[in-house]
Amino acid sequence: MDDWISLKLKESKKFEKGQRIARPAKLIRLLPIGYPLNNKSNVIAVSDEKLFEVYAKEQWLGTIVAKGDYLFDQRLIPDFAFKVVKTLPQGEVMITEETKIVLEKINPIYRVKTNVTFKDIIGHERVKEKCKIIMKYLKEPEKFGEWAPKNILFYGPPGTGKTMTAKALANETSSALYLIRATDLIGEYVGDASRKIHDLYKMARDTAPSIIFIDEFDAIGLDRAYQSLRGDVSEIVNALLTELDGIEENRGVVTIASTNNPTMLDRAIRSRFEEEIEFKLPNLKERYEILKHYAKKLPLRVEADLMKYARVTKGLSGRDLKEKLLKIALHKAIAKDSDKITEEHIEEALKEIKNLPSPPKEMFS
Ligand SMILES: Nc1ncnc2c1ncn2[C@@H]1O[C@H](COP(=O)(O)OP(=O)(O)OP(=O)(O)O)[C@@H](O)[C@H]1O
Ligand SMILES: [Mg+2]
Repeated sequence: MDDWISLKLKESKKFEKGQRIARPAKLIRLLPIGYPLNNKSNVIAVSDEKLFEVYAKEQWLGTIVAKGDYLFDQRLIPDFAFKVVKTLPQGEVMITEETKIVLEKINPIYRVKTNVTFKDIIGHERVKEKCKIIMKYLKEPEKFGEWAPKNILFYGPPGTGKTMTAKALANETSSALYLIRATDLIGEYVGDASRKIHDLYKMARDTAPSIIFIDEFDAIGLDRAYQSLRGDVSEIVNALLTELDGIEENRGVVTIASTNNPTMLDRAIRSRFEEEIEFKLPNLKERYEILKHYAKKLPLRVEADLMKYARVTKGLSGRDLKEKLLKIALHKAIAKDSDKITEEHIEEALKEIKNLPSPPKEMFS
């Protein structure tokens, strides 16, 4: 009975709309919102924008909408909601054959699935210790109330495992992980950035427990002394600060910002992070462990004294050891049709690293 009534209501609304006069829409901008009744993510990928427009127009032709209205998909992903975020002209408009329908890009928001665990992270004992409390919170947010760990700053040189740690945190607590670059939050128009941030946090809340990982944070959180460098990012900063302060509202959401240059951050912004976690370059023992760990994963056997190479690679990060030293050595071996990686290949890789534009100073000391 209820279904029948709602169906009739829908029909009459359509009829009414048909009778209503609205200007034809030149442009409709849609934001994928998600489902009304569950927590499925609203990250959808449109493979062909033109095709999406045809598809959208076909099912919503003749519909009258205004900014703030919702449109529901009834075909491929039934009941998936799109919010109308912009219309041209403004006000009530009708979707016609001529309407340009644009889907708002939400690709800066990456919902990531990962299987990285803390066991995969070599060294960083202090980091892991500090992460324990974040894990406890993500598992039982209600226990913490206003004492929740909410905003954490990860800092340290590139390639030391900051992103990797966020992935492990998400994986081990079955939390949703949103990986975004601070620069992706910068919008084209006034209002874009704050909306993106608002939507991001809404999505994170809907899928809590979740982690929002903001990479390259210095791009927006720079101290005013570097104003000319950062341009006008005050809109992003203000929107972000509102969310960072929203303890009660954002229950089960942890924000982790990551930067290589914490000293360049604006003090007011930096003070919002109750915990700062430092990622250091690996020491001798850790370099050895990292080399051993990834050597085992290489498609060719490694026949070399890895301790010897751990000793001469001071200043290299985990990423450098893996992506530069070992990978280049592997490629050298493959190029020479060798069935194993020998010290000769690793020596050649070392030489290449030293010839790179900015090899670590320590490698020469
Ligand atoms: N401590 C480590 N243990 C194991 N692997 C590591 C470690 N540090 C780095 N790596 C390897 O290097 C890769 C890059 O690390 P990651 O992306 O986490 O660095 P990052 O600190 O986020 O760097 P950036 O500041 O450039 O974003 C990792 O995916 C991993 O393969
Ligand atoms: Mg990173």
